[in-house]
Amino acid sequence: MEILKVAAFSGSFQRESLNKKALKVALKIAQKYGAEVKEIDLAELNLPIYNQDVENPFPDSVKKLRDIAAWADVFLISSPEHNHSISAGLKNTIDWLSRKYEETIRGKAAIILGVSVGNSGTLRGQAHLRQILEALDMFIVFQPEVIIANGTQKFDADGNMTDEKSLAALDALIKKTFDQYIKIKTTNDVI
Ligand SMILES: Cc1cc2nc3c(=O)[nH]c(=O)nc-3n(C[C@H](O)[C@H](O)[C@H](O)COP(=O)(O)O)c2cc1C
Repeated sequence: MEILKVAAFSGSFQRESLNKKALKVALKIAQKYGAEVKEIDLAELNLPIYNQDVENPFPDSVKKLRDIAAWADVFLISSPEHNHSISAGLKNTIDWLSRKYEETIRGKAAIILGVSVGNSGTLRGQAHLRQILEALDMFIVFQPEVIIANGTQKFDADGNMTDEKSLAALDALIKKTFDQYIKIKTTNDVI
């Protein structure tokens, strides 16, 4: 199979986001394993709230998102936990991608991770995210999970992930997803 193409976005829109930091680390790992990567800044993209009345045609910002999704094989998503679920902005992004999803995300792979400031490390949010992506027929490996608790202590001033365990889990998750997805795509083009 040719080089894997990875589209990455953070479910947190804030500038000093811990999840944006984690995403940058994940992108470097993906590149180390030979992937071509594109990061989407959802705050900059500023998608409208999903509304079935305004999807014919899709708004320009949505088209931009969907074009990158069509290009990608793998989606790398780092999401905070907001009120025990994923962020509203991430859900809205997925809702736009879910329309005519055979053109965007269906049958493609997702790598999910999350950072929170508390002890739960996005455990509940990630469970929701998994459920949503399964509904869209995405390929997700079960283990390892990358659940980063007490996130303010897990990065240095340069954005490096200082927690060895989280870093190792992230590396293993990316490698395993790439290996398994390539195997699936080369043996059977339909997941
Ligand atoms: C609206 C809102 C809801 C939150 N809910 C949770 C939560 O349910 N669980 C949790 O661990 N942290 C929660 N937090 C705290 C986040 O872990 C914290 O804001 C974290 O920094 C979010 O990631 P970010 O830095 O990438 O934005 C919440 C924060 C906000 C703003």
